Amino acid sequence: MTAKILRVCGAAPQGLLFVYLLLILPWVAAAPPYNAVASADLLATKAGLEILDQGGNAFDAAVAISAALAVVEPTGSGLGGGGFWLLHRAADGKETMIDGRERAPFAASRNMFLNAAGEFEQQRSINGPLSAGIPGMPAAMVHLAEHYGRLPLKTTLAAAIRYAREGFAVGETYLRSIVLRYPAMKNSAAAADIFLRNGAVPEAGFRLVQKDLAHTLERIAAHGVAGFYSGPAAAALVEGTRDAGGLWTLRDLEEYRVVERDPLHAEYKGIRVTSAPPPSSGGVVLTESLNMLSGFDLRPVDTIDRKHLVVEAMRRAYRDRARYLGDPDFVSMPVERLTSMAYADELRADIRLDRAGFPVRKPSAIPAAPIEAHNTTHFSILDKEGNRVAATLSINYAFGSCFVPPGTGVLLNDEMDDFVSREGSGNIYGLTGGDPNRIEPGKRMLSSMTPTFLEDEDRVAILGTPGGSRIISMVLLATLDFAQGQAAASWVRVPRYHHQYLPDLIQYEKGGLTEREITGLQKKGHRLNETSRPYGNMQVVLWDKKNGRVTAASDPRGDGWALVR
Ligand code: DON
Repeated sequence: MTAKILRVCGAAPQGLLFVYLLLILPWVAAAPPYNAVASADLLATKAGLEILDQGGNAFDAAVAISAALAVVEPTGSGLGGGGFWLLHRAADGKETMIDGRERAPFAASRNMFLNAAGEFEQQRSINGPLSAGIPGMPAAMVHLAEHYGRLPLKTTLAAAIRYAREGFAVGETYLRSIVLRYPAMKNSAAAADIFLRNGAVPEAGFRLVQKDLAHTLERIAAHGVAGFYSGPAAAALVEGTRDAGGLWTLRDLEEYRVVERDPLHAEYKGIRVTSAPPPSSGGVVLTESLNMLSGFDLRPVDTIDRKHLVVEAMRRAYRDRARYLGDPDFVSMPVERLTSMAYADELRADIRLDRAGFPVRKPSAIPAAPIEAHNTTHFSILDKEGNRVAATLSINYAFGSCFVPPGTGVLLNDEMDDFVSREGSGNIYGLTGGDPNRIEPGKRMLSSMTPTFLEDEDRVAILGTPGGSRIISMVLLATLDFAQGQAAASWVRVPRYHHQYLPDLIQYEKGGLTEREITGLQKKGHRLNETSRPYGNMQVVLWDKKNGRVTAASDPRGDGWALVR
């Protein structure tokens, strides 16, 4: 931006300099001088920037990146999954969230994952076609293109189609995750054909070619929603899932709809927070936590006390997640009250600085630590017009259900595990809940995905991350870092710790807490558990309006690429 002003000013006669600055500055402040993209994969980031170079806007780039990630990061997201796209349109300031979350098939039922003894059989809710909700990703991409983009799908999907057809060498995350998911993957012949090498775990150098997926993407490029949700693609999806014991019908696909939802807005110490409403729990839990924390001055307190207070806020907000939240089209939720400051004041009142937990604390067993897998994905975009996209997309666990309906190339999600199947039985991320998030036909399962914008007087941030239940606490920690004036590169590096109410445990990554903090927190009565690996893969963009700088950063824990140009 500075260069731009100087060049214009340099050409001006001395006397006009001041006038020029006055004319130019408001315009400059209203639009960033660069495009910026941060995503979990270089090929996806490039696909987005290419679209911006071709005159597309951030929403076109979001279509290109979503599709590219569906091809190059099959551990995390895909056409067989869903997600949330948080949008800010510069021209009129419109903010909306495109809810492309999966829905339970119409034949799904409350106890479908319980055995005769009433026990939860989690293998069935994470593997194979029963675990798959009806995908929202293709419909959301088409919706984005038709309502917000300006380029045709043929253009925005071209890179993804090329990557799928020509193939690419898989990275370390793929190779590590496939070992974990091999037992499930070998049960689906079509999935094994694509993702394994001659039926065995592939080794470094494996080139992933996805011809059927390229073809399905071409159908969407040519026919829009109909290219996936009706016609031959829908027939193959339904036949393939039913042949393998699934419940999908053509009606499930034909009646799938994306929903535009109003984002949640909160205010934290002068920062405007815009985040995901239900069926994500992200915005509610983030807002509740920030509201509670806004009653403390965190700066002067010792880091043990500071982290204790953050944990206590998380604990209370995640408890409400479990109690109240679900699909807004099915359950009525006290969102207004939960996100009000008056309610936060009540919650804050029983937080004690010297003691962990609620006044009356029920001890809970410590469950086995969840297996750390890289799945789900996030990308952030800012274009030169000032349009923004924060999108978190998922097929749930690594490689989703590990099931591909033959001939489609579409790896299906295992998002049904995000429902509550049995009170007290946690899902793959240990999350519990109650009636609001029980399985019902056509219902969206509660999510933790938290695409978010942060704004203060000078700065605009676009952020999000994968990480299951820990997504929300990661976004919270990044928000607190933003509030301290830190740079984008710092938010993605913040050492991570997490509490989700149940299990009653602080989970932290190596280095997330110092030895001193661990001892100090234990003294207050906290139980702690170090995760087996660092977690999260945050992708962020920052536009500093005051100095015209645009920066982007990818989490050092992942293989993402952040580019500004
Ligand atoms: O929607 C959700 O909350 C989950 N399906 C997200 C899963 C996830 O982030 C896994 N990442 N490690």
